[in-house]
Amino acid sequence: MHLLSILGIVTLSLSGFSTALAIEGEPNVNGTLVQQHLRDREKLIALEKTHRQDHIFRQSLSPTAKRADEIVQAIRQHEIDNYWRVAATDGQKERFAGQAFPLARPYISNTTLWKVVKQMPKGALLHAHLSAMLPYDKIVKIIIQTEGMVISASQPLDTKEAKQNATFTFAHNNGTLSTTQFKIDASDYIPNTEVPVKTAVANFEGGEAAFIDFIKSKTTIPPGESIRHELGVDEIWRRFQAYFGPTGSMIQYEPVVRKFYQTLFQDLASDGISWVEIRTGGSHGKLVHNGDEEIDPDLDAWWHVLVEEIDKFKATELGKSKNFLGARVIWSDTRINNRASITKSMKIALQRKQNFPQLFSGYDLVAQEDLGRPLSDLAPELVWFRQQSEALNLTIPYFFHAGETLGDGNSTDLNLFDAILFNTRRIGHGFSLYKHPNLIRQVIEQNVMVEVCPISNEVLRLNEDILHHPLPAMIAHGIPTAISNDDPAILGQDVAGLSYDFYEAIQAFDNIGLAGLGALAHNSLRWANFEDQSSEDWIQDIDRGEHGTGTKARHIQGWNREWEKFCKWIVDEYGSKYPAVQVD
Ligand SMILES: *[C@@H]1O[C@H](CO)[C@@H](O)[C@H](O)[C@H]1NC(C)=O
Ligand SMILES: *[C@@H]1O[C@H](CO)[C@@H](O)[C@H](O)[C@H]1NC(C)=O
Ligand SMILES: *[C@@H]1O[C@H](CO)[C@@H](O)[C@H](O)[C@H]1NC(C)=O
Ligand SMILES: *[C@@H]1O[C@H](CO)[C@@H](O)[C@H](O)[C@H]1NC(C)=O
Ligand SMILES: *[C@@H]1O[C@H](CO)[C@@H](O)[C@H](O)[C@H]1NC(C)=O
Ligand SMILES: *[C@@H]1O[C@H](CO)[C@@H](O)[C@H](O)[C@H]1NC(C)=O
Ligand SMILES: [Zn+2]
Repeated sequence: MHLLSILGIVTLSLSGFSTALAIEGEPNVNGTLVQQHLRDREKLIALEKTHRQDHIFRQSLSPTAKRADEIVQAIRQHEIDNYWRVAATDGQKERFAGQAFPLARPYISNTTLWKVVKQMPKGALLHAHLSAMLPYDKIVKIIIQTEGMVISASQPLDTKEAKQNATFTFAHNNGTLSTTQFKIDASDYIPNTEVPVKTAVANFEGGEAAFIDFIKSKTTIPPGESIRHELGVDEIWRRFQAYFGPTGSMIQYEPVVRKFYQTLFQDLASDGISWVEIRTGGSHGKLVHNGDEEIDPDLDAWWHVLVEEIDKFKATELGKSKNFLGARVIWSDTRINNRASITKSMKIALQRKQNFPQLFSGYDLVAQEDLGRPLSDLAPELVWFRQQSEALNLTIPYFFHAGETLGDGNSTDLNLFDAILFNTRRIGHGFSLYKHPNLIRQVIEQNVMVEVCPISNEVLRLNEDILHHPLPAMIAHGIPTAISNDDPAILGQDVAGLSYDFYEAIQAFDNIGLAGLGALAHNSLRWANFEDQSSEDWIQDIDRGEHGTGTKARHIQGWNREWEKFCKWIVDEYGSKYPAVQVD
């Protein structure tokens, strides 16, 4: 009789059968064939793992980091079994590890895994849009405290429906208002009348808390809506883009803008983020100076303020103790705009790059990819822009959003091909990349990294929960990836940092674990665009990682030290509760 084993052919003869029909004995737990099967199985699983993008990082873990990884694995499994796995009863909904983020969110902060993730040094935040980075209650509180800020609404905010329909605008007014209208939620409020924010808040039905709730309701996707996957992608994007509307006027007045940056950098640094690349620009880079009402026509004003605030924060106690490295801006144009409008914006971008070479990092196109112009249609602008920057001796790499779609072979999905041909240095989302084996090979060969935003993809209805996300497939195929948060103020993370997105990734997938999460953070620094570099130098520094000689290597070395400290903290804090299993 011949049996095929998985890894080859094993021939054996079974003796002891006196007749063909006799049934004898019991399954032998320690039988040779059983043991052989288990050994083959181990080999096959290990072979599979050598293809992983985080393989090398895992191979180089220190003994402390290995021990920390094992402890965190035990913590995670304990919580999956004892905290998350709750069968539905009359009084309680079904709960499980990896369920929809808005449903899981209230329970996450009560877990030990959350404490671990909070504490982790996370490297760089590479994909986030400025006006949706800091929760709006924090911005509103800054506005309330700022002298001269006024609010106007398109209609009286006197009913629930009116609050839903209304739009509002913040501004700065340096005169005394001649209005008698001090109650924006009264039925006799005259539309578009400016009311001092302090007064509007003091007179608001329900006070400051109710006012902030109102602003949040106009700027944040409610959990009940974000889980309605049956309504599809276009529906949630209509909501999502509408929420961006009111946010523009919130961060335009210099004193507010300055406090906004300080609060944002504090929150990022406190969450273990040491470097950030912010997508913004186009029409958003405008500033109203302290004591003024009009936008400064000199567009450099906005950039000067950001440079100053980055330096200011780096010099603070927190900035220094967390070794905050700084920020750069990825200029972002709205992809739905026509050729003339994009070209005009690109000219403004080229001027900003000349004036702020360090702050200006690269170029991207944003907003709903499905309904916007495909990159192939934008090719004339993109070719022209590259020629202009080369002629001006400017280094402006592309960091394209691409493949943020459920499509397969339609124009949105095909954006991935254009992005690669245009030498994008990273891909924003790349959600549909897993469908393209040849492109995957090319992405790996060309060292292109995918900025994965798990909660964004879920809330914007590409995957119904983290368990359905292609992240683990990308990592398994060897695609470089790092975790970002996209628009945490609108999408429901409701904090500026990365902890919720990191938590989702580690909690959902056994193959990630602490070591895998470490590799994702490590990648974020390997693919950070710290300074202008030629394509050759960029690739070389990614390849060399901490072993290089430049800025990037130094920053990765800094992270490696923080990572070791963090792993030691895990061992000290939780080691005794989770004794060593089997270390090989
Ligand atoms: C299998 O082997 C282990 C260790 O070699 C032994 O402890 C165990 O009793 C064996 N089980 C059976 C069913 O023979
Ligand atoms: C938080 O965790 C503690 C300890 O595990 C538990 O007793 C408590 O019920 C939890 N609270 C919630 C809201 O789940
Ligand atoms: C709100 O908008 C809807 C749809 O346009 C309209 O029917 C309704 O009258 C509006 N209500 C208020 C109070 O503005
Ligand atoms: C506001 O004040 C600034 C300086 O304090 C002044 O230059 C500007 O003209 C004022 N604007 C208005 C509209 O009063
Ligand atoms: C182009 O810029 C680089 C620095 O970014 C500089 O070293 C080089 O001399 C410049 N070349 C020309 C032709 O201006
Ligand atoms: C591509 O296909 C997806 C899935 O059907 C769809 O959501 C998206 O709108 C499509 N894009 C275009 C440009 O048709
Ligand atoms: Zn984005």
